[in-house]
Amino acid sequence: MADVYRPINLFEYEQLASSHLSKMAFDYYCSGAWDEITLRDNRAAFERIKLRPRMLVDVSDRNLSTSILGQHLQLPLLVAPMAFQCLAHPEGELATALAAATAGVGMVLSTMATKSLEEVAAVGYKHNALQWFQLYIHKDRGLTQNLVERAYAAGYQALCLTVDAPILGRRERDARNTFTLPTGLQLANITNISGLNIPQEQGESGLFTYFAEQLNPSVTWADLEWLQSLSPLPLVLKGILRSDDAVRAVEHGAKAIVVSNHGGRQLDGAIASLDALAEIVAAVDGQIEVLVDGGIRRGTDILKALALGAKAVLIGRPALWGLAVAGQIGVSQIISLLEDELSVAMALSGCTSIKDIDPSLVTFKH
Ligand code: FNR
Ligand code: LAC
Repeated sequence: MADVYRPINLFEYEQLASSHLSKMAFDYYCSGAWDEITLRDNRAAFERIKLRPRMLVDVSDRNLSTSILGQHLQLPLLVAPMAFQCLAHPEGELATALAAATAGVGMVLSTMATKSLEEVAAVGYKHNALQWFQLYIHKDRGLTQNLVERAYAAGYQALCLTVDAPILGRRERDARNTFTLPTGLQLANITNISGLNIPQEQGESGLFTYFAEQLNPSVTWADLEWLQSLSPLPLVLKGILRSDDAVRAVEHGAKAIVVSNHGGRQLDGAIASLDALAEIVAAVDGQIEVLVDGGIRRGTDILKALALGAKAVLIGRPALWGLAVAGQIGVSQIISLLEDELSVAMALSGCTSIKDIDPSLVTFKH
C-alpha cells in the first residue's frame, strides 16, 4: 500500500473496503438483524460514555500489555470469530491469523471458517499466539465432537462456544441478495455438508437455511458438561448479555465470557453490549474473566470498555475491512491503528499501564 491512499482510521477502512468487495459480501459483513437498532446502539453506547482523565501523571512510558486466561497479549485485543473470511481476500483466515499473531493480539477462529483450523493453528503456533476455536454445535453430535477434538489437537487454547445463535438472526440484506457462497468457496472444516453453495429460493439467505437445517437449537446449560468432557480445553461463553446468565456461566465452569450481541446480527433490540457490561462484571465478581465486543472502533472505546471492567475487547468487522483492502497488511494496519489510539488515549487520561484503567475514568453524566 506504499503509494496508495492509506486510511487514517477504522471508519475510512470500512469506506474503502466497500469498493473491494462484491455487494453480497459487503452486505453480509456489515449487516445487522432486522432494523439494525442494536447494531447502531453498539456504537451509540460508546458515545454516551464520557471520560474523566487524570492530569499530571508521568506518562512518558506506557505499557499496553495484559494477559487473558494466563496468556500474554501485547494489547488487550482479540480478533472476533467471523465466518467466510475468504470472501474478503484469498488468504482469508490465514492472513488474519498472521496479522494477529505478529502483533501479539489474540484471534478466535470461527467454525464457519474458509481455511482449515489446522492451517490457521500452525500460523499461531509459530508465533506463540493466543488462538481460540469458536464452536457452533451442529445437530450432528459426531461432527461437533470431531471439531472439538481437532481444535484441541491443533493447539487452540480455549473453546469459545457461541450461545446467542440457536438459529440465525434475520439479516434482510442477505435475504434480499439470496446470500450463498460463490463457487470455489466452502466451509473448510465441515466438508461433508455442502449447504452453502446451493442456490436459495429468492428472498432467503443461504446461511439462515444452513443454521436452520444443521445447527442444534436445543442446546442448554445441561449440555455444557458433555461439551467439557470432549477435551480439556477451557470453555469461554460468547454472547452473554445478563448478569444471571453470567453467574450461571461461572457455576457451569466457564473460564471466561464474552459480553456480546453478535455485532447486532442476532436479536435486534437487544441491549448494547457495552451497556450490559458493568452489571455483568459486578455479578461475576472477579471469578472469571469478562471480555466484550460490539462497536469497538477507537482506542478510546477500548479504554471505556476496560474502565467498565472488561479484561480485553474483540473487534469484528474492522478486521474484515482491513482484510478486504490489503490482506494481512490491512489487518495489521487495523490492529496498529487501535494500538496507537489506545496508547494516546492512555497518555491523555493519565494511565501508564492497563491496571491504571479503573472505573473512575468513566461517567454516564453528560
Ligand atoms: C460475526 N460474528 C460471529 N460470531 C461467532 O461467534 N461466530 C461466527 O462465525 C461469526 N461470524 C461473523 C461474521 C461476520 C461477517 C460478522 C460481522 C460477525 C460476530 C463477531 O464474532 C462479533 O461478535 C461481532 O462482529 C463484534 O461486533 P463488531 O466489532 O463487528 O461491531
Ligand atoms: C454470522 C454467523 C456466521 O454472524 O455467526 O454471520
